[in-house]
Amino acid sequence: MILFSSILILTLGTTLCSSIILDSAADLNKLNLKFDFIVVGGGAAGAVVANRLSENPNNSVLVLEAGISNAGILDIIVPFFSPRAVPNTAVDWNYSTTAQVGLGGRSLAYPRGFVLGGSSSVNDMVYTRGSKEDYDRWANITGDDGWSWNQLIPYMRKNERFTPPSNETTEKFNPAVHGYDGINTVSLQGFPTVIDSRVIQTTTELAEFPFNLDMNSGYPLGIGWEQQTVKNGSRSSSATSYLASQFISRPNLHVLLHARVTRVLQTNSNNTFRTVEFVQDLAGEKLTLTAEKEVILSAGSIGTPNILLHSGIGNSSTLSSLGIDVVHDLPSVGQNLTDHALVSVAFLVNSSGTWEDAERNATLAAEQLAQWNTTRTGPLIDSPTPQIGWLRVPDNSSIFNQFPDPSAGPETPHYELIFTSGFFGVPPPTGNFISIIPAVVSPASRGSVKLQGNDSLSAPLIDPNLLGSEVDLLIMREAIKSALRFATAPAWQDFVISPFNVNSTYTDEELDDFIRENAGTVFHPSGTAKMSPKGATWGVVDPDLSVKGLSGLRVVDLSIAPLIPAAHTQAAAYIIGERGSDLIKEAWGQI
Ligand SMILES: Cc1cc2nc3c(=O)[nH]c(=O)nc-3n(C[C@H](O)[C@H](O)[C@H](O)COP(=O)(O)OP(=O)(O)OC[C@H]3O[C@@H](n4cnc5c(N)ncnc54)[C@H](O)[C@@H]3O)c2cc1C
Ligand SMILES: *[C@@H]1O[C@H](CO)[C@@H](O)[C@H](O)[C@H]1NC(C)=O
Ligand SMILES: *[C@@H]1O[C@H](CO)[C@@H](O)[C@H](O)[C@H]1NC(C)=O
Ligand SMILES: *[C@@H]1O[C@H](CO)[C@@H](O)[C@H](O)[C@H]1NC(C)=O
Ligand SMILES: *[C@@H]1O[C@H](CO)[C@@H](O)[C@H](O)[C@H]1NC(C)=O
Ligand SMILES: *[C@@H]1O[C@H](CO)[C@@H](O)[C@H](O)[C@H]1NC(C)=O
Ligand SMILES: *[C@@H]1O[C@H](CO)[C@@H](O)[C@H](O)[C@H]1NC(C)=O
Ligand SMILES: *[C@@H]1O[C@H](CO)[C@@H](O)[C@H](O)[C@H]1NC(C)=O
Ligand SMILES: *[C@@H]1O[C@H](CO)[C@@H](O)[C@H](O)[C@H]1NC(C)=O
Ligand SMILES: *[C@@H]1O[C@H](CO)[C@@H](O)[C@H](O)[C@H]1NC(C)=O
Ligand SMILES: *[C@@H]1O[C@H](CO)[C@@H](O)[C@H](O)[C@H]1NC(C)=O
Ligand SMILES: *[C@@H]1O[C@H](CO)[C@@H](O)[C@H](O)[C@H]1NC(C)=O
Ligand SMILES: *[C@@H]1O[C@H](CO)[C@@H](O)[C@H](O)[C@H]1NC(C)=O
Repeated sequence: MILFSSILILTLGTTLCSSIILDSAADLNKLNLKFDFIVVGGGAAGAVVANRLSENPNNSVLVLEAGISNAGILDIIVPFFSPRAVPNTAVDWNYSTTAQVGLGGRSLAYPRGFVLGGSSSVNDMVYTRGSKEDYDRWANITGDDGWSWNQLIPYMRKNERFTPPSNETTEKFNPAVHGYDGINTVSLQGFPTVIDSRVIQTTTELAEFPFNLDMNSGYPLGIGWEQQTVKNGSRSSSATSYLASQFISRPNLHVLLHARVTRVLQTNSNNTFRTVEFVQDLAGEKLTLTAEKEVILSAGSIGTPNILLHSGIGNSSTLSSLGIDVVHDLPSVGQNLTDHALVSVAFLVNSSGTWEDAERNATLAAEQLAQWNTTRTGPLIDSPTPQIGWLRVPDNSSIFNQFPDPSAGPETPHYELIFTSGFFGVPPPTGNFISIIPAVVSPASRGSVKLQGNDSLSAPLIDPNLLGSEVDLLIMREAIKSALRFATAPAWQDFVISPFNVNSTYTDEELDDFIRENAGTVFHPSGTAKMSPKGATWGVVDPDLSVKGLSGLRVVDLSIAPLIPAAHTQAAAYIIGERGSDLIKEAWGQI
């Protein structure tokens, strides 16, 4: 898909929500309010916390969001335009990674949502929970059974408002495993693509690719229909759902945009951190606000460790060497960054009806947009992937003689296959394409978020260390071979002409070169402020998400994940937001 650099502004003819979303701290000051809870970051998890804490009219809640309003930006509203949302747009933090050893020294763009809704406003909307084993492993690592799959199911359901587009889709999901009364709309494909019947037919032709009716049951292995955060043909983000008008109009909930938190500061005593320092203008003065009860960091897996480190909470020797006053030695802050690597396998196909048609024909593209705009129908109402597969390298693979199995267990995938009815990336000038995109979803590689200096407004050094562990490269090799086998099923005869950028004649060495030269990220950074058991000598937060050794300060976002789930990570971020909210309410005797 062509990546456009500009953001189109859509005139929706509606007012930009209520005045409770503020642009300026001066306007906030005029209200002369005290806030019980200050949430730093209005992203996937932060918006959940703001919504749930403000359910109780006794709690006054303020969200400080660094980014801009999500309203009226077409590229983050039209689902199929998600690849245009980032990188290097007005809604992106514009980060890039350090040189990646596993990628032959390349550095990658590393987008994060700089907008209300955070990365849920710019992501590709794939909604996958992960495996039961993933969460049971969280429970095991933290010693808190509340993080196990079974105990998290109520929180999954609080998040999800499952809304299949029509009855014909009942063979595409299992109604028993969904929530229907949650806040965030989750749906299924609403417009057919040229690959649908062939992907599904392959599951009846090749035994290694079984059909899975519902990959969100806790048992994701197999090939099935993608579930997506789309509501009536438009993106459902945490901003459009948890901060929708019926919630944002609560008198006890305020959001301040363009509010970039630089540090958390001590409040009265050495161990209490309920004060935040922020700027509205990069050259402007530093402002402070103090929460009556707690500050909740929900700035995401890059933003949260960045704030903690600049606050002097981290590895004391590293911080001292950067000229930052150490206020609390917590060496795990920013360590253990984990992400998913992907690489696209493209196939030249004997068919029109792929993405390239509209990418090369402005008239057709305009027709599709007009159709979306007037009726919310047509090819633009879906996220870019109609089906997904979750698969394991066989147990008897020689890989596991060399390395321990990095997955959470036998029901958890090592790799994913993402199917698209078009060329992933900038397409060649002629030809029609489909892509099968393998991703390593139970990675062993670990990286870090570090500071480059003591300027709290400068970007951190982000090293996801993609494919840095050899086992991840070996699994990626197997995943590419699997993608090539998938396209040899009879279902693809007369359709797939040939693999385009890699093929089955490649030696392992050639495959490794292909991977290092072409692999990218699925944009799932996690684990930089990990939960660990209470009293553990490692980790950043306790199982109740309070920062170890401090009071008044919690982290509620994907950075607390003890290990990355084998899934696209927004569902996990929402689940963390939902349970995190209950843990806070519990601490204040509110449930
Ligand atoms: C391009 C892209 C595609 C993706 N595709 C998918 C997908 O298809 N499916 C899926 O499940 N997941 C996807 N993800 C990942 C998913 O969106 C994230 O895992 C999830 O949003 C993380 O939630 P979070 O609450 O931890 O952080 P975020 O949602 O990133 O929220 C963090 C918020 O904090 C704000 N913030 C950061 N620093 C500060 C500061 N100093 N002061 C104030 N505010 C601050 C940010 O602006 C942001 O709003 C994608 C991500 C990206 C970037
Ligand atoms: C709000 O506070 C009042 C006074 O303390 C109390 O009576 C009431 O139960 C509280 N409401 C909730 C929803 O907690
Ligand atoms: C990212 O770059 C875009 C385009 O230059 C810009 O509009 C946006 O403000 C930048 N984001 C940040 C956080 O500076
Ligand atoms: C975690 O799993 C290991 C191995 O199965 C087991 O020995 C241990 O008791 C578990 N720990 C907790 C806290 O459940
Ligand atoms: C779906 O099917 C049920 C039962 O057959 C029927 O009652 C309902 O009206 C149908 N809904 C739609 C949207 O077609
Ligand atoms: C914080 O700790 C320092 C050094 O231990 C001590 O001098 C100071 O009094 C403490 N401040 C408070 C407010 O407790
Ligand atoms: C802190 O960082 C230094 C390197 O800067 C490292 O040698 C040391 O092991 C780290 N400390 C801990 C406890 O991880
Ligand atoms: C990284 O995480 C593991 C648990 O997955 C933990 O044992 C280790 O101590 C962590 N490392 C750091 C530097 O925090
Ligand atoms: C471009 O799309 C329009 C509208 O669908 C169509 O009429 C036209 O034939 C297409 N042009 C080409 C070159 O395919
Ligand atoms: C959508 O339709 C409205 C009303 O007809 C129009 O003003 C607007 O420009 C259209 N937007 C797009 C992107 O086509
Ligand atoms: C979906 O959007 C269309 C077009 O804007 C609108 O006519 C329709 O009422 C919406 N349906 C629902 C269920 O909101
Ligand atoms: C392309 O499709 C046509 C008809 O569907 C078929 O006759 C032809 O053999 C196909 N060509 C290839 C290279 O698969
Ligand atoms: C695939 O293999 C054939 C030989 O079997 C070769 O001609 C072709 O160039 C290869 N394709 C790529 C992308 O390397």
